[in-house]
Amino acid sequence: MPERIRIAFVGLNFGHYLAEQIIHGPGSPYFELAAVCDQNPQRAEEGGKRYHVPAYTHLDELLARADIPAIGLFTPPIRRALLLKTIMQAGKDIITTKPFEIDPLAAREVLEEARKYRRVIHLNSPSPLMPPDLAQIQAWAKEFRLGRPVGCRGEAWHGGGLNEKADGSWYDDPELCPLAPMYRIGIYLINDLLCLWGKVSEVQALQARVCTGRPTPDTALAGLRFQNGALGSLFTSLCVGDNRPDEHHLTLNYEHGTIYRNVGFSSPNRADSQVARLALNASGPNGKDITRQVEIEGISGSYQWAAFYQAIHGEPVPLAPDPDVLVAGLQIIQALKASAKSGMIEVVKT
Ligand SMILES: NC(=O)c1ccc[n+]([C@@H]2O[C@H](COP(=O)([O-])OP(=O)(O)OC[C@H]3O[C@@H](n4cnc5c(N)ncnc54)[C@H](O)[C@@H]3O)[C@@H](O)[C@H]2O)c1
Repeated sequence: MPERIRIAFVGLNFGHYLAEQIIHGPGSPYFELAAVCDQNPQRAEEGGKRYHVPAYTHLDELLARADIPAIGLFTPPIRRALLLKTIMQAGKDIITTKPFEIDPLAAREVLEEARKYRRVIHLNSPSPLMPPDLAQIQAWAKEFRLGRPVGCRGEAWHGGGLNEKADGSWYDDPELCPLAPMYRIGIYLINDLLCLWGKVSEVQALQARVCTGRPTPDTALAGLRFQNGALGSLFTSLCVGDNRPDEHHLTLNYEHGTIYRNVGFSSPNRADSQVARLALNASGPNGKDITRQVEIEGISGSYQWAAFYQAIHGEPVPLAPDPDVLVAGLQIIQALKASAKSGMIEVVKT
């Protein structure tokens, strides 16, 4: 393995979780944490001490470090495109996180700029490479000739909202964090479905505030009409503290079969699992029963450190991520936000 690339992390709340992936986890063969930055001086200082690296409170000072070619950007999604431009202009490659932006136009622009100037921007959802679980779903649909998509249900929940309190951050503002659980965790399902079934033409939203201490909703439901004619629904909540892994459940109905991802019971000791449980029921030739079950290592939403490393070294990465999928996901969020306000079905504006 060639030399590790020096990376600096900007944004030290969720950023700490990913710093662990660099120090002890799947990012460690590829990257070395070389500095941290947070505009909050206390967070910056604590981060520097924790990782024994220089700490910065001003991004410009960090960007002046010519010996650090890669940045992990883990600030809130609002105006992230602007920050990405600043970082790219300093000649650095970037890995960031979902949701990519709030503004679909700004998102498209910055991805186009990255392409033009041959800079790398990766994130976890949509990811640069097709995740193994989605690849398996596509392979089954083709192998068993499942036919046209008919309908899907997606679910994502955790209990994090039970302990959340208003803190004046973007998480509290419905303009910056629309249909909060849908923007925060439903975006994984939205991106997965865009990869599998293509674009959505219309949406309808419902939202509720069941238990959170924040002013934004903690539970949200979305109806989707896909351009291919299929219908879908998504349920997301930050209020279900059932101690289960933070899995993204999907049921996908096709003309001749159904595929399930992570639907049903899962054991609590798999909280950090990178394994997806997939099952298939289908009718084969002459009505013959087809059933399959498989556990797949590598789930959608993971950070693909190896792909980021290869892309920095100029090796081609096919998706990287696909700007059409990424922007379509943000357009769906905008349409859901409009629907939550109007109470009506809203067209997804492209
Ligand atoms: N919190 C989670 O569990 C979680 C999980 C997965 C993904 N994410 C994603 O990570 C991103 C950040 O979320 P978070 O929960 O850490 O947000 P947060 O608002 O709690 O923390 C963001 C941090 O970034 C710092 N920051 C903001 N702008 C900065 C700038 N210009 N320069 C330097 N520092 C700056 C802030 O001071 C703060 O410490 C979001 O896109 C979120 O969706 C969060």
